[in-house]
Amino acid sequence: MIIAVDGPAASGKGTIAKALARHYGLPHLDTGLLYRAVGISVLRHGGDPANALDAQRACGFEEVLLADPGLKSEAAGRAASIVSAHPAVRAALLERQRAFAAQPGGAVLDGRDIGTVIAPEARAKLFVTATPEVRARRRYDELIGLGLSVDYDHVLGDIRARDERDSARSAAPLRQAEDAVLLDTSALDVAAAVAAAIALVEAAAR
Ligand code: DC
Repeated sequence: MIIAVDGPAASGKGTIAKALARHYGLPHLDTGLLYRAVGISVLRHGGDPANALDAQRACGFEEVLLADPGLKSEAAGRAASIVSAHPAVRAALLERQRAFAAQPGGAVLDGRDIGTVIAPEARAKLFVTATPEVRARRRYDELIGLGLSVDYDHVLGDIRARDERDSARSAAPLRQAEDAVLLDTSALDVAAAVAAAIALVEAAAR
């Protein structure tokens, strides 16, 4: 069974995807990490994420980079969002994601285009959202918890900018697949969101 979990930044899709993977005993791939690895690799080589050639060169990043704590930073998220608009970058990361999804026992993948491009054949597709304010609050709390000094309005602005960039690009933009079910986590805590996600997957798999 392939489970596709898509949605905007800080919607809770990562937490939900991880919980679904644990619940069903399936391997999980956070596809945002791949784009973050490309983004941070460009930055570390002194390149410009908006430059297609710089971004394309960074697609051959070292595997160890996927475990780098720097991938979680806002700078990496912003760079990821910018490099992910280049069709050549999306093409370079496509096979790896498709191969992960095609594992014999099934898999859970989360990202922006899993249900639309990577695994349109997925049995269960969730589109996880929450209002920009709720997502900014979650991201803010997370960053404060990491001991970083951040400003809520700045985080909210960043979330809005990422939504805009991820939805407006022409290559595999963020959008809900026609056969995906919407899960709005604005008013849900983690336990309630995970329970709702499991119920939706059960209904889709029936
Ligand atoms: O999920 P995330 O915040 O870690 O993703 C970082 C960026 O990577 C996101 O803003 C857009 C891009 N991305 C994408 O274009 N397609 C995916 N499947 C996953 C992420």
